[in-house]
Amino acid sequence: MEETTLVLIKPGGVGRNLIGEITRRIEARQLRVSGLKLVRAERGTVEQHYDEHRERPFFKDVCDYLTSGPIVAMAVTGTNAVKAIRTMMGATNPLEATPGTVRGDLALTIDDNLTHSSSDPEAAARELALWFPEGTV
Ligand code: PPS
Repeated sequence: MEETTLVLIKPGGVGRNLIGEITRRIEARQLRVSGLKLVRAERGTVEQHYDEHRERPFFKDVCDYLTSGPIVAMAVTGTNAVKAIRTMMGATNPLEATPGTVRGDLALTIDDNLTHSSSDPEAAARELALWFPEGTV
């Protein structure tokens, strides 16, 4: 089934010049970039994005991190895109991420795990509306 999902390349990924490497892997998988922007995210947008984690101990840290530098927001479209992208990115904690995944190959710590991707189609719809209110292409 064709789906669209959200990928964020976090400040660590942008700072390490990994925009191309991460996008290359996505496109090589025959997924299509259907929205793309480099932004300095507003704190309010990031807090809304992580709203379900508001009571978790890392909420402030993750919001600080996402607003610490430019990030890439990307919409990605293709067959089963939500699951395909989650699997490609690897486990949230890079120490548990399989080699061959973005985090398993390129990241080491959970506080700098390079990317965010939507967990399921409902989250994807909510997150795409937040980051791409103008819609995707
Ligand atoms: S998941 O995949 O949503 O179940 O992951 P979860 O463990 O619930 O974490 C939710 C997001 O918070 C980030 N996170 C952290 N950031 C900084 N420091 C610490 N200690 C930390 N723990 C969790 C985690 O990367 C998830 O963000 P995303 O953007 O989805 O990766």
